[in-house]
Amino acid sequence: MITKTFGEPGRPGKKLIIESLGPKELKYAKEYTDFINSLIAENAKILMNRKQTVKEETEFVKGAIKKTKEKKKIYLIAKDGKKVVANTSFEVMAYKQNHIARFGIAIRNGYRGMGLGNYMMTEVMKLAKTRLKPTPKLFRLEVLENNKPAIALYKKMGFKIVAKLPKHIQDKGKLVAEYVMIKDVK
Ligand SMILES: CC(C)(COP(=O)(O)OP(=O)(O)OC[C@H]1O[C@@H](n2cnc3c(N)ncnc32)[C@H](O)[C@@H]1OP(=O)(O)O)[C@@H](O)C(=O)NCCC(=O)NCCS
Repeated sequence: MITKTFGEPGRPGKKLIIESLGPKELKYAKEYTDFINSLIAENAKILMNRKQTVKEETEFVKGAIKKTKEKKKIYLIAKDGKKVVANTSFEVMAYKQNHIARFGIAIRNGYRGMGLGNYMMTEVMKLAKTRLKPTPKLFRLEVLENNKPAIALYKKMGFKIVAKLPKHIQDKGKLVAEYVMIKDVK
């Protein structure tokens, strides 16, 4: 667990705790539900579009804890006090694709643009290389074609667009293409 301050120079920053997901987080299922539902409420460019119940989110967190124990997943969270403000993960894919780890990230509105995405992605990539089993040879992610901040971040981190899947995501009444991006693990 580390505590780090994020923000623009000259302005009071936000002191956040960043840690790996563990069993004690089950106590905070309500805060996790609140986080995912805040993203759904603002129609963020993530796949999910239906608010989650605390029960559903508890099951999700339990599953993530189990996969973490099995070294199939790395899951980092950022908190502002008890409030969950970001998550990021890599998960090992199945069977003949288990050399690939799939990435995801979401930062809560109000906590973006202050370097948190950059920091969390850098950290989770380091952990994915050392902790996941089997050790990944390739990182993969999917992103909406019109998610400019995310694509800029991923390119900065060395990911390249390798495929465009037309009409793959419903976004504000339109069918938007999805990009597949990959990065070799060195
Ligand atoms: C995309 C997201 C993860 C970026 O995280 P963040 O904490 O806002 O990003 P940071 O402040 O660390 O900035 C990192 C880089 O992202 C890019 N970026 C961030 N905000 C941006 C913006 N408004 N416009 C363009 N690029 C932007 C830049 O490349 C930036 O690097 P720079 O500061 O050197 O220019 C965050 O906006 C988010 O979670 N959005 C909602 C959910 C989502 O879209 N998740 C991704 C689904 S694939």
